[in-house]
Amino acid sequence: TGTFTYDPGYTSTGSCESKITYIDGDAGVLLHRGYPIEQLAEHGDFMETCYLLLYGELPTKAQNEDFHYRITRHTMVHEQMSRFFSGFRRDAHPMAIMCGVIGAMSAFYHDSTDISDPHQRMVASMRMIAKMPTIAAMAYKYHIGQPFVYPRNDLDYASNFLHMCFAVPCEEYKIDPILARAMDRIFILHADHEQNASTSTVRLAGSSGANPFACIAAGIACLWGPAHGGANEAALNMLSEIGSVDRIPEFINRAKDKNDPFRLMGFGHRVYKNYDPRAKIMQKTCHEVLQTLGIKDDPLLDVAIELERIALTDEYFIEKKLYPNIDFYSGITLKALGFPTNMFTVLFAVARTVGWIAQWKEMIEDPRQKIGRPRQLYTGAPQRDYVAVENR
Ligand code: CMC
Repeated sequence: TGTFTYDPGYTSTGSCESKITYIDGDAGVLLHRGYPIEQLAEHGDFMETCYLLLYGELPTKAQNEDFHYRITRHTMVHEQMSRFFSGFRRDAHPMAIMCGVIGAMSAFYHDSTDISDPHQRMVASMRMIAKMPTIAAMAYKYHIGQPFVYPRNDLDYASNFLHMCFAVPCEEYKIDPILARAMDRIFILHADHEQNASTSTVRLAGSSGANPFACIAAGIACLWGPAHGGANEAALNMLSEIGSVDRIPEFINRAKDKNDPFRLMGFGHRVYKNYDPRAKIMQKTCHEVLQTLGIKDDPLLDVAIELERIALTDEYFIEKKLYPNIDFYSGITLKALGFPTNMFTVLFAVARTVGWIAQWKEMIEDPRQKIGRPRQLYTGAPQRDYVAVENR
């Protein structure tokens, strides 16, 4: 009963009210709690951004220190968690490991199940933001067959993450502050993006009152797809497949061909029909990283630069408003930082965790909150009578 509007992909459905993130896709504007992403990325750091998303205001110096202290108290994971990893095949995709391990966290933190308690909600949020890099680094270490590296609480969030990923017991690992800053900026740029597919998934899962770790695991599963967070991995794989600048026209033609399902990965966005403001910052960060590492003549980079140039001047891409998105540049940057492609979406998940949890909290704390329950337009068979198998 009732009338429903058919809205595939929810392109015109406002699923909630939110005070967290504002996007004007036509103007290329992204604000978190009113602050432009450009200013947060330029002057702030990821911890401040987390605080802002969770609490609605930028922290004072004392609040910032306290928040940082509380986050670092939660960076360790239960030692039993390390045994969970060995159940996975060595060649398992790290996102598959993330879905499993983060879901399993709900079995370690029974207290988080009481989502009616504001204190428990906050503790669950802290745990999630603090442990996600540890688990992501463990997934990486497991994948490459190296021992897990424990977190170091004297380091900032991004440096600690690089340490857990790249330190090895047999030699000293020095963190370049420019690269740590780039990692931090990547985290800031991916922290939240209003009601995208994975955030909507977290809200929908959370609307039934499920354990928050299980909700985040649902978000991770959704993020994995190449049309969403998996695009950074897909974009880099595409650059490798193109291989050299002279093959670009062939791929551009394929992208334009209506009968070819091929798309240029890292181009286009559901909401940004102007330049993605995050892509601009990511492009700058990408060049800083390449410069710091002295990477000049990477063939993938040549392909990326030429592809970007063609796409920005080609009629098809202009008409369809297909600009390079954040994933186009983040893939190249993460590769330069030393991450294998299958870790790219995992890093996106680490950064987006705060957005997911802030949106989850906002939903739980909204007194009008109801279980999410979309309806459908039924197009199947009308009512009919059962026919015995011998008469079919
Ligand atoms: N290459 C070639 N053509 C494209 C592309 C592309 N990357 N993206 C869209 N189009 C065309 C599409 O064929 C369609 O043409 P027509 O109007 O003739 O049918 C038109 O542009 C509109 O496409 P759409 O699929 O209706 O647009 P959408 O808003 O549903 O999709 C998108 C947005 C991001 C899924 C899509 O642009 C895409 O698949 N891009 C490649 C994957 C990617 O980079 N995803 C990361 C998005 S940003 C990070 C995130 O939010 O997770």
